[in-house]
Amino acid sequence: MSMAARLATRQSGLLRSAIRRGGSTSRFLSTAPPPKTLPSFSMQGKVCMVTGAARGLGLEFCRAFVSSGCTSLAVLDLTEKEASAAAAELTAFAQETNSDVDPETVKIIGLQCDVSSEQSVQKAYADIMSTYGRIDSVVASAGIVENYSAFDYPYDRIKRLYDINVHGAFFTAREAARNMIPQGGGSIVLVASMSANIVNIPQPQTPYNASKAAVKHMASSLAVEWAKTGVRVNVLSPGYMLTKLTRDILAHNTELQKTWESLTPMGKMGNPEDLSGAIVFLSSDASKFMTGSEIRVDGGYCCI
Ligand SMILES: NC(=O)c1ccc[n+]([C@@H]2O[C@H](COP(=O)([O-])OP(=O)(O)OC[C@H]3O[C@@H](n4cnc5c(N)ncnc54)[C@H](O)[C@@H]3O)[C@@H](O)[C@H]2O)c1
Repeated sequence: MSMAARLATRQSGLLRSAIRRGGSTSRFLSTAPPPKTLPSFSMQGKVCMVTGAARGLGLEFCRAFVSSGCTSLAVLDLTEKEASAAAAELTAFAQETNSDVDPETVKIIGLQCDVSSEQSVQKAYADIMSTYGRIDSVVASAGIVENYSAFDYPYDRIKRLYDINVHGAFFTAREAARNMIPQGGGSIVLVASMSANIVNIPQPQTPYNASKAAVKHMASSLAVEWAKTGVRVNVLSPGYMLTKLTRDILAHNTELQKTWESLTPMGKMGNPEDLSGAIVFLSSDASKFMTGSEIRVDGGYCCI
């Protein structure tokens, strides 16, 4: 047996025993041959865009796309500085992850975009179209949450929340479809929440829950409106995930995490990367006969 064959056998043995132990496999995956996956899950050759992508779930969605072969990606967030910093981080990640890809072909850009402004969204799409000439997969992840009881919620804050969560998702989807229809189609994923389906307790957040229910039904409605054009619209609804959004809430209430975990059948909060499979599935050709659907990734929360 040659040296290379012996090494490959040893690596696959280590990988198998790591999987058996239920431990991390990343240490072995870096040197093991690339795992085989269904080709329709590949994001290679697709131009992708994610809003609210400088951190949190949006940034993780970008990493998932890059890990699945995407080299053309627009990272949108409120400030140009943060969007560009995330784009630079993702460029380094892309070069390290896809070592077989010519670094010259990796084009990841950061763009300023406030999704609550239709003009700002239109400008971002104009920049994307002039940079890449097309757009294939869009994820509307920008969103905010606040906790006020209904009687105490100031109107200007309610309005801001709907402007970002509901109108922002609508502007993002509508501009995506305007550009995708002439090219024959594309995939749009709106990030809603398990809160579109249940009422979270104990923290009060009526406008947030209603905004996410609106996003879920918006996706079904747009999916039907655009079904024959090749544009698909689906929803990803996370449960409690550890990001800045939830850490900010938990910082003021340390007991709350225990309550959330006890209400989740799997007994824990999710990590952003727990959504990677679902976002790649919905954004890739693997889900090409799927539109108007919701995938919940919530540790079983909505089942009880
Ligand atoms: N983290 C969770 O547990 C959880 C659960 C269910 C749903 N969600 C949803 O997932 C999405 C992402 O949440 P996250 O946890 O990553 O939040 P996060 O606060 O960590 O990140 C949100 C990102 O959106 C950006 N953003 C805010 N307003 C914006 C605007 N007007 N225009 C453009 N970008 C804007 C922020 O700058 C930030 O980078 C949200 O829609 C949220 O409602 C999150």
